[in-house]
Order: sequence, then structure tokens, then C-alpha cells
Amino acid sequence: MSAGASAINTQWRLASRPTGEVGREHFEVTHSPLPEPGEGEVRVRNLYLLIPPSMRLWMNEKDTYFPAQVLGEVMTGITLGVVESSRDPSLAPGDYVNGLGGCQEWSIAPVGHLQKIQPRPGVPLAAYRSVLDVQGLTAYCGLTEIGKPRAGETLVVTAAAGSVGSLVCQIGKKLGLKVVGIAGGADKCAWLRDECGIENVIDYKHEDVAARLDALCPEGIDIAYENVGGPVMDMIIERLRNKGRVVLCGLVSSYNGGVTQNTASLMQLVNKAARMEGFLVSEYLHRYDEVIATLQDWAADGSLKYRIEVLDGLDKIVEAMTRVFHGKNQGVQLVKIAQEGTQ
Ligand SMILES: NC(=O)c1ccc[n+]([C@@H]2O[C@H](COP(=O)([O-])OP(=O)(O)OC[C@H]3O[C@@H](n4cnc5c(N)ncnc54)[C@H](OP(=O)(O)O)[C@@H]3O)[C@@H](O)[C@H]2O)c1
Repeated sequence: MSAGASAINTQWRLASRPTGEVGREHFEVTHSPLPEPGEGEVRVRNLYLLIPPSMRLWMNEKDTYFPAQVLGEVMTGITLGVVESSRDPSLAPGDYVNGLGGCQEWSIAPVGHLQKIQPRPGVPLAAYRSVLDVQGLTAYCGLTEIGKPRAGETLVVTAAAGSVGSLVCQIGKKLGLKVVGIAGGADKCAWLRDECGIENVIDYKHEDVAARLDALCPEGIDIAYENVGGPVMDMIIERLRNKGRVVLCGLVSSYNGGVTQNTASLMQLVNKAARMEGFLVSEYLHRYDEVIATLQDWAADGSLKYRIEVLDGLDKIVEAMTRVFHGKNQGVQLVKIAQEGTQ
């Protein structure tokens, strides 16, 4: 259904800042009249909302790579939507666009804030706001630009069955690395092994991680792609080889607070003349077209696997975030705001 002149926009606003896990009480849901787009703007019907772990960090008082979310404002959200009406010749109704459309049904945006996407037949639309977008670019550029892999080296990946991690594992294998994936639970490990072809997996919830790392990486670790932090990260750093590289992508175990890193393991960076480097995917936007084209080709020929989980409706935001922090998400976690084909 398209937005008429009197359409009402359901919006999720941040009402208070969580100190631990996010709950329904941290949001206020409002219903506001939908404004018309101005000159150079479009009105977008939001279809999918990505639920990245860092969404939890945006709710804190401290700035991240985004300014801190203002209380009372519509919660920031990474969205894919369809243009419903346009006041700029560069976008037409029916065009699919990626943007920061927020946790709401519709958004009005200047065209310069949106990226038009052209889905290939046979590829789910939702992939264009996840694995064939920010998460794919994060995986590819983090591994290649920071990890500087050389064929034959050993790569260890944490949150290995997650959206970014599962891509890193598979890209690492394509580059000729020996890949060890660490994930929570037998199901995730089986998927990595049986579907993604990652033979060396460690279930950190049920196995002795240190002993398994020693067995699987007898000569140590060349590259650690770190998504989680905490005690497993310490075990990995302790096993770095000379001139090892730690690709610091994220520290999801600390996002709800309460986890502190053991800095003693960092001495190993000195002992092994190793490097730990953080990065932001936004630094690699200049490589977007080239990298996403490669990932699309691999997805199309079936050599790159991914999973996308969709919860239906904006009122599933809290549940979706909770799933991510309890490892219940099997791959990408999205919330569907409206049905595809809705315009
Ligand atoms: N640097 C960048 O530009 C950039 C861009 C995108 C994402 N990231 C980072 O990449 C990482 C992965 O993000 P993603 O979107 O791909 O999420 P994801 O891996 O699909 O989901 C998060 C996973 O982290 C694990 N996890 C959650 N809470 C945990 C805890 N307390 N302790 C241990 N493991 C926990 C769970 O996997 P298990 O079930 O296996 O424990 C969960 O499924 C995050 O750190 C994120 O912030 C960074």
C-alpha cells in the first residue's frame, strides 16, 4: 500500500539508554504524519532493517563511528527500501535503495544519502543490505587489507558462523589459507564444516578452546580475524606467530558492558613483533563495486554460502537484537518492515 497524503509513520524512538541488554522499555513507539519529500528528496518505504551488534553501541551516551543516538529521536537504522515518490530525476518510484532510513516505516531522504541497488535475478533482496553490502565489504577488506594474507598461512576467525565471520572463513579458504573457525554450538560448527567447507572448527561453548587451538595450529596463528574479544581472544593472541596480524573488526562480547579485556596477552604482540589493527568498513567504500561484484559472482556460482534470518515487523527489533547477543542468529539478522512489492 503506498503512502497517501494522510499516511501515518510508525517510528521507534530511543526513550532511555540501556546499561546492559536492550529491552522494550528503552524504546517509545510513536505514530506521526508522514511529510512529503522536498526538492531533491525521495520518500522511501523501508523494507528491511539490518540488526548489527554495533546497534547496541549507538544507544550509549558516547559517540561511536556515529554520533551518539539522541534520546527521543527515531533510532538509527541501516535499511533497504523502495522509492515511493521522488522529487529528483536520479531516482524513480520502484527503485531499491540502501540508506540509513532508521527504525521506522517510511523515511524521507536527500538522494545523495541513498545508494541505488540493482538486484540480480535469483539473489534475495535482503542480501543487498547484508552479505552483499556492508558485511561482505567488512569481511573482504578487513581480511585482505589488514590481514595481508599469504597462501598457506593460518587464519583463526571468531564468531565464525556469523554474518561477517562466515564470509571471512570462506574468503580465507579461497585465498589458500588454513582456516580455523570458532563458533558457539554444534549446529553452527556443522554448518561451517558441511555447507561452507571449513574443516577446522571449534565449538567454544563445549570444547577446550586452548587445547583445540594447539592441536589445529601447531605452529601458531598468522592472522586472527577478531569479532568477539574476551578470553578466547586472549587465547588466540597468546598463539600468534612472529609478525602475526590481528584484524580487529569488533568486540561483540563487550557491547552490553561487563567484559574487560585481559591486557596481559597483549605482551605477545611485543614478543612476536605482531600487529593488531582496527578498521572501519567505511574506509573501504572506494572498493565497494569491485568487492561486491566478486562476492555476487561467488554467491551466484554457489561457492559462497550465507544465511539470512528475518523477523517480521518493527515490533521485533528488541527480539532481533537479543538473538544476536545470545548467538541465536544463524547468520545475518534482519527485521522485515514491509513486504517486498509494497509500494
Ligand atoms: N569494523 C567494522 O567496520 C565492522 C562492520 C560490521 C561488523 N563489525 C563487527 O563484526 C562482528 C560480527 O558482526 P556480525 O554483524 O557479523 O554479527 P554476527 O556475527 O552475525 O552475530 C554476532 C555473533 O557474535 C557472537 N556473540 C554475541 N554475543 C557474544 C558474547 N557475549 N560472547 C561471545 N560471542 C558472542 C554470537 O555468535 P556465537 O553463537 O558463535 O557465539 C553471535 O551470533 C561484530 O563485532 C561487529 O561489531 C565490524
